Amino acid sequence: MVASVLNQNCNLWTLSPAANAVEQKVVRWFAELFSFGDEAGGLITSGGSMANLIALTSARDHCLGESARTEGLQGRKSPLVLYTSEEVHSSIDKAVSVLGLGVNYLRHIPCDENFRIRLDLLADAVKDDREKGLTPFCVVGSAGTVTTGAIDPIRELSTYCRSQDIWLHIDGAYGALTVLSDRFREPMSAVGLADSVSLDPHKFLFTSFEAGCVIVKDASNLRQAFNFLPSYLAMEKDPDFVHFADYGPQLSRGFKALKVWWSLRRFGRKTYAEVIERMADLAAYMGQIADKRPEFELLAPVVFNCVCFRLAHRDDRGNEKVLKRLVENGTAFLGPASVKGRHGLRACFMNLRTGEADVELIMDEIARLGRSIAEE
Ligand SMILES: Cc1ncc(COP(=O)(O)O)c(C=O)c1O
Repeated sequence: MVASVLNQNCNLWTLSPAANAVEQKVVRWFAELFSFGDEAGGLITSGGSMANLIALTSARDHCLGESARTEGLQGRKSPLVLYTSEEVHSSIDKAVSVLGLGVNYLRHIPCDENFRIRLDLLADAVKDDREKGLTPFCVVGSAGTVTTGAIDPIRELSTYCRSQDIWLHIDGAYGALTVLSDRFREPMSAVGLADSVSLDPHKFLFTSFEAGCVIVKDASNLRQAFNFLPSYLAMEKDPDFVHFADYGPQLSRGFKALKVWWSLRRFGRKTYAEVIERMADLAAYMGQIADKRPEFELLAPVVFNCVCFRLAHRDDRGNEKVLKRLVENGTAFLGPASVKGRHGLRACFMNLRTGEADVELIMDEIARLGRSIAEE
């Protein structure tokens, strides 16, 4: 509400200097969480999808160099190839398509039993493509895959990408901000080894929609891709400010950074850590029930706040039917999960009022619905 009333246009710093300082502060806080250095920069976006698109644009243009702007992909004989896992969020496929790379040049590498990208298969695919005369340019790892929350081996990916001169982007929209909790700090701090990362404050920071963020380790890559300031927009340069219009595709932009800044100031790191851990505890509790009770089968290890499971004695259709009835009768809002080709249910804990008793009630109700469809 305050951001709407202030009605700042966060494109050129000259039009919105206070908002510019706030947005820079938020981006810096996030960058510091992952120990990105002083050269890092980024901006608040509408969400993880836009953050991924901006990061992959920077990766593409970094690879193309000088010709990125003039020739684009048109003049290239050796197509660019992007690698990611089969569990990646579809916003990566969408970005590849929007950027003109072509999804035929997107490799979905198979995962191990814990839904993490297989490094040996990644290396084989890159080698294979190089032999065919293609140009491997980017690997996207996930700091929390969308379905199961799996964390790709980020340190190993970083070492590999550096050895191959390939840009490493981490899609951290789901899980990277769990770095705020001691429980997840160790795996998430590796995110700072990447060339870029996407974050989603409107997920684990509970910020109202829309609020995403992209950080690029060397902000000059953002400027190389997006600096298009024509003479009618030329404004004073000042080392204390950035033109956010140089950092992404938008010119006019709202003051989304304010609500993120405000939430961080108001609730603070400790509260966020407690809430993240509380949601993860509830998911772990549901996971234990799914693992122990014979009616259920746990489909994937529980990492963050989501649980994928199914009714063990019902087929895919039966599981779909139970999910539909559970949602229709208003008991709980779970979503579908397709894990290694099998259909089940996915619970994601995001409500601060949910407790252990709710978890028990949901599991009892799912078991009851499972019995009732068997009798039909
Ligand atoms: C891993 C991951 N990446 C990207 C996205 C897309 O984020 P947004 O909906 O904010 O565009 C999501 C959303 O669920 C996600 O889980």
